[in-house]
Amino acid sequence: MSQAATTAGAAPAASVATSEQYNYAIIKRFAIAAVLWGVFGMAAGVWIASQLAFPFLNFDIAQITFGRFRPVHTTAVIFGFGGNALFATSYYVVQRTCQTRLWSDSMASFTFYGWNLALILGVITYMMGITQGREYAEFNWQIDIIILVVWVAYFMVFLMTLLRRNQPHIYVANWFFMAFILATALLHVFNNIQVPVGLFHPHSYSIFSGVQDAMTQWWYGHNAVGFFLTAAFLGMMYYFVPKQAGRPIYSYKLSIIHFWALVFLYMWVGAHHLHWTALPDWVSTLAATFSILLLLPSWGGMINGIMTLSGAWDKLRTDPIMLFLITALAFYGMSTFEGPMMSLKSVNALSHYTDWTVGHVHSGALGWVAMITFGSLYHLMPRLWNVNLYSLKLVYVHFFLATIGIVLYITAMWVAGIGQGLMLRAFDQYGNLAYTFTESVVFLHKPYVVRAIGGGFFLAGMLIMAFNIAMTVRSGIKAEAREAQAASTEARTA
Ligand code: HEM
Ligand code: HEM
Repeated sequence: MSQAATTAGAAPAASVATSEQYNYAIIKRFAIAAVLWGVFGMAAGVWIASQLAFPFLNFDIAQITFGRFRPVHTTAVIFGFGGNALFATSYYVVQRTCQTRLWSDSMASFTFYGWNLALILGVITYMMGITQGREYAEFNWQIDIIILVVWVAYFMVFLMTLLRRNQPHIYVANWFFMAFILATALLHVFNNIQVPVGLFHPHSYSIFSGVQDAMTQWWYGHNAVGFFLTAAFLGMMYYFVPKQAGRPIYSYKLSIIHFWALVFLYMWVGAHHLHWTALPDWVSTLAATFSILLLLPSWGGMINGIMTLSGAWDKLRTDPIMLFLITALAFYGMSTFEGPMMSLKSVNALSHYTDWTVGHVHSGALGWVAMITFGSLYHLMPRLWNVNLYSLKLVYVHFFLATIGIVLYITAMWVAGIGQGLMLRAFDQYGNLAYTFTESVVFLHKPYVVRAIGGGFFLAGMLIMAFNIAMTVRSGIKAEAREAQAASTEARTA
């Protein structure tokens, strides 16, 4: 293995920071939580994928049926895996780029316990059948309040750290993180304006009704994608891709254009989830137009990230962490091409209500969100514990398992979704439906089995990562203990 490969997962001496300089303890906690939620959430994904292929797996046990476990999966992967990784990386990036310590250790610690408590309560209540019934906002109103308080604390920690910076400049990654924090607060509040049934009652009613309610939910839904699953992970990308490549970002100017165009355009596109419904036609057209425009900044950002490697393409041969980061960008490009196409009303007439949507979701979620997170965590972990990564070979194994898993997942969903869409639209010469609904369900069985197998590959990679990280952390803890012992021996002999 080349020199580059052997140093890819190493912790360079220059990155070692003392605990007084930066608060690394909180980042370690969030990063480990991200890995644990990743294992749980993806296992839940494989479980529900298997239930769709083999319905007997519901076992008639209400708590683990597909309907209740689906939000357990989405909450665990989006907010547990993704959310904890975002807390970890945003706290790391803001400290390193502002060259200052987090504003308040106790507030940061509060965000860790509060956030994870809310998620655990969410999982338990969904399994009990308590849900608001709003996708990605299923938490009941009491948990919503916990999340709100945590989010205000997060905003304060991030903002105050930025204000205390020892650098005149605010690096672009922080802009993306800040937009994500502000937009999430706005979305969370407006989508959860509810009238509770009673103070100790878990249920509540939305103050919106009919089409306004649907519009508010999907304004939330797509901006959860735009700001939580995209802008925030772009913050990650803008720091970790240049760091791992050892080169500055390809174009700083392009990153600023990317930022402003993205945050402006995303807010308008929610209605593309509601084409051909009771929504006024002009709202649909507006959403489709802005969705097409979104292609431009998205691809600008992708090109900016990938071109950062120009002059150092050889790293793709020698550094598996770089492979994760660049592949993530390729999937970012792919899903932000597919999304605008699906937002066209004519294409959506075929794709909506089919598994094509689920395939699109996972090319973004697995290919972009999970891959960029894996790359960033592999970069981060050795630096936090000041040791080398336990095994770079296992990073390669993880990479190939994950890639095979994604390809199986999304191709199975294209076949399922397009087939399903065509079957639901086929008519015989008398104008009757050519296929019954049951026939379309039978057709879906094989693609569903392939999707579950793909998920299994992806999960296997995640388990390998968890092992690699656990071994890295273990050697870090041992090294810290040795150092502490050496220091105390020195103090005694002095
Ligand atoms: C092992 C990997 C995974 C597997 C096997 C898996 C499987 C599934 C399945 C079976 C569904 C339900 C689809 C349906 O209702 O028909 C689903 C939904 C979803 N999953 Fe995953 N998933 C995985 C990883 C992830 C990750 C890492 C994320 C996000 C970062 C994610 C985000 C979502 C979202 C947003 C939905 C809702 C999709 C929609 O409503 O169209 N999944 N997943
Ligand atoms: C320019 C960027 C994008 C556009 C214009 C776009 C557009 C769309 C469209 C038209 C749908 C189908 C709506 C429907 O028929 O119900 C959709 C669904 C979805 N997209 Fe995207 N997409 C983009 C990027 C992404 C990315 C990067 C992700 C990342 C993870 C993502 C996640 C999702 C999710 C989770 C859904 C499913 C929501 C649901 O029904 O539960 N999208 N998107």
